[in-house]
Amino acid sequence: MYVCCCNPFSDKAVKAHFDEKAKDRRVTVSEIYNTCSGGAKPQCKTCLPTVAEMVKDHNRKIIPIIPVPGTPDPV
Ligand code: FES
Repeated sequence: MYVCCCNPFSDKAVKAHFDEKAKDRRVTVSEIYNTCSGGAKPQCKTCLPTVAEMVKDHNRKIIPIIPVPGTPDPV
């Protein structure tokens, strides 16, 4: 499904970015938009809430690993 119609890219492109380039880290809406649109700027901005929701869902899954003193390194 297309996420952005002005600079066409799909939800698959966004998910591919999460899986391939940001598997273990948080991302921003700007990063996702810039990458998936090929560097084009948003025009009507209708898609930004959808991109923001996808980014929020992704970032929620990124749990920081906090070392506990006296235990083996978790990584
Ligand atoms: S739909 Fe994405 S900028 Fe218009």
